[in-house]
Amino acid sequence: MADSANQHFALTTPLYYVNAAPHIGSAYTTMAADAIARFQRLNGHSVRFITGTDEHGQKIQRTAEDAGIPPQIHCDRVADSFTELWQHLNITYDRFSRTTNPRHLPIVREFFQRVWEQGDIYKDQQRGWYCVGCEEFKEERELLDDHRCPLHPNKPTEWRDEENYFFRLSKYQAPLEKLFADNPDFVKPVSRRNEVLSFIQRGLRDFSISRVSLTWGIPLPADESHTIYVWFDALLGYVTALLEPGQDPTLENALADWWPINLHLLGKDILRFHAIYWPAMLLSAQLPLPQQLFVHGFLTKDGQKMGKSLGNTIDPVALIEQYGADAVRYYFLKEIEFGRDGDFSESRFITVLNADLANDLGNLLNRTLGMAKKYCDSQIPVINVDDIPENHPLKSIGSGLCGRVKTAYKNCVINRACQENLELVRACNKYIDDSAPWSLFKQQKQTEVEIVLYTVLESLRLAAYLMAPVIPQLSTAVYQQLGLDIDFNATGVSTQCPLTVHGVWGYLPSGKKLRKAQPIFARIETET
Ligand code: MSP
Repeated sequence: MADSANQHFALTTPLYYVNAAPHIGSAYTTMAADAIARFQRLNGHSVRFITGTDEHGQKIQRTAEDAGIPPQIHCDRVADSFTELWQHLNITYDRFSRTTNPRHLPIVREFFQRVWEQGDIYKDQQRGWYCVGCEEFKEERELLDDHRCPLHPNKPTEWRDEENYFFRLSKYQAPLEKLFADNPDFVKPVSRRNEVLSFIQRGLRDFSISRVSLTWGIPLPADESHTIYVWFDALLGYVTALLEPGQDPTLENALADWWPINLHLLGKDILRFHAIYWPAMLLSAQLPLPQQLFVHGFLTKDGQKMGKSLGNTIDPVALIEQYGADAVRYYFLKEIEFGRDGDFSESRFITVLNADLANDLGNLLNRTLGMAKKYCDSQIPVINVDDIPENHPLKSIGSGLCGRVKTAYKNCVINRACQENLELVRACNKYIDDSAPWSLFKQQKQTEVEIVLYTVLESLRLAAYLMAPVIPQLSTAVYQQLGLDIDFNATGVSTQCPLTVHGVWGYLPSGKKLRKAQPIFARIETET
């Protein structure tokens, strides 16, 4: 992934189906993408963070019909519920791409034309089982008994036998093999890459990219009695998103500044579309390929994928209202290994928040500011950081922390980034207990007291800074109480506190006045 400063960094979440309001599963990718986007901004990159909604296709058409409203009105309502949720979760997206945006149509048409001119589209008969939930034809061997799809077991697949236009995926067998051989990091984690490789090895089959029975879609330029397959249309939403407001909607304009995308984040259920169909489509259109795909697991409840179709979802708005956005962001990003499945349980949620945010982080700030008030008149002790030995228990962790956290964010191992910071916070608590500044103070060892307080305050600051991509509000509260006026949610904040300056252990300016200690995260009390 790109590293040097001042580089462009474009990343995407999938464009979410608008068949129902967002649930915590759909919020998950977006929270992760937001943490990465925020980190890359602090890291000096210009970031374009794209999210949005996928609004065409059978699934959406049926949902609107069932609700008895025109599909566009349905889409507008649900798209609004996504943007509202992103606001509640403090998601700093730059573009919200909707596939029903009129500017998307000319992009899809132009792209289609390029593929058509390559001779990669032809008409044939499509026979097979279609899962409307996945918006995908399934092979027999992928289905459960009664031809049910494992991802949507409560909705039977439908037999289709119709004339469709096909995309010549088989032509891209060798180029895709080469793509994966030449770019071992194209799909991460490696388990997902292996999954793609074995799919390719089985032999790629052409797939249909048009529907005859469906009106809610973009008419196929070559034959308007068909609409374009929703996935062909949706993937191009990533391209449309890159248009500047007011710019002519052409491929040339859209691709001028931010293409290729550096990072697509997606869940494991839509791997094949992104890792095989999408690169093949781009190769056909003779466009550069995205740099990397990172594939995460599912949030499950009682072991089953949480989803709109199964109705076993958790309402993110309710969680945010009860516990706050940072609590929700923290739990899902720290507690679940990004790349693997993770089960949600409210009791675990509360335990983690109380332990990490209320106790380890919140109490540490509180007790340290309390001591600073008593022992040094609420002033950051005047210390020469270079005089603190390298093997000091906090300096030794703090000095290399930024590098480790940076690697974790860059590799999308967000949970590890959180763990690294938490380790420093826990080391602070231990260091205070071990060095007992209250007794040093009694013994009038003022210099020692000040070293303890400075090194703890500085470690707290650094951990808060490096956690800001995950918990921006709490990090802001820590910074404010340390007397540093940074609001991690403010636009353009990254230029005020770049990683090269604030990521360094020892940055905390000596002599500044600290502010009044206030609890940053109230312990969650439960009835038991
Ligand atoms: N519309 C397509 C994506 C088109 S991208 C050009 C789609 N939409 S979706 O709403 O069904 O899913 C969007 C993303 O949410 C997927 O990455 C999916 O994995 C993720 N999740 C949906 N439910 C999820 C969980 N229960 N847990 C984690 N992520 C889940 O697919």
